Amino acid sequence: MQIYKATDYKDMSRKAANIISAQVIMKPNCVLGLATGSTPIGTYQQLIEWYKKGDLDFSDVTTVNLDEYKGLPRTNDQSYYYFMHQNLFDQVNINPENTHLPNGMEPNSEKECARYESLIHSLGGVDLQLLGLGHNGHIGFNEPGEAFEKETHCIDLQERTIEANKRFFASADDVPKQAYTMGIKTIMQAKKILVIVSGEDKADIVAKAFFGPVTPAVPASILQMHNDVTLVGDEAALSKIPR
Ligand code: F6R
Repeated sequence: MQIYKATDYKDMSRKAANIISAQVIMKPNCVLGLATGSTPIGTYQQLIEWYKKGDLDFSDVTTVNLDEYKGLPRTNDQSYYYFMHQNLFDQVNINPENTHLPNGMEPNSEKECARYESLIHSLGGVDLQLLGLGHNGHIGFNEPGEAFEKETHCIDLQERTIEANKRFFASADDVPKQAYTMGIKTIMQAKKILVIVSGEDKADIVAKAFFGPVTPAVPASILQMHNDVTLVGDEAALSKIPR
């Protein structure tokens, strides 16, 4: 595992964007696996800035996102489809037809998960997967206790996730109760993985996930078994890793 220490969020974002842009420059028709959440926003902003300067070209790039809420239409500003369009796709020259997320409006979970998994395979797999890290070690929507061998599947959101998300919706009843997510197995099949972490509140889980035992209780700990993982974190997030 390669670890790059950044001074702060901005520096982390810049370093992560450098790694993604190197991938795009070396393989213009690459498949990028993308994440939502607060951590990657700065990375996407940096990529947009370089695109606008003429230093990056996304015209041949294909993307597959990690996850999507089940039952939320794309037009809902809490959907990951909406997030990705706002924060990246609509601001660079990527072909919208080459951007993929699980279809949250497909009610048949089995059908949608099989479609998404076979789509990833038909694209030749993911060249570089970007990941954020949850406070409990989750990656994608793979919560502690999930089997490592799962492919794309539908999960029931935990009660505290629903509780935490309800501030973004009119009421708790409007919060989606399920989501589609790439499984740990899907994520582990990516050729390269880039994990980004920022802030002191992530320091404990970073130390556990990357330097503790490999266990389904900390889903991200399986990344220790991948042969090409890069971790980019700011000083605060990396403050508890062994020297
Ligand atoms: C996002 C995702 C999640 C986040 C994680 C960290 O697509 O799958 O696993 O990466 O919850 O979120 P932030 O970056 O908001 O701390």
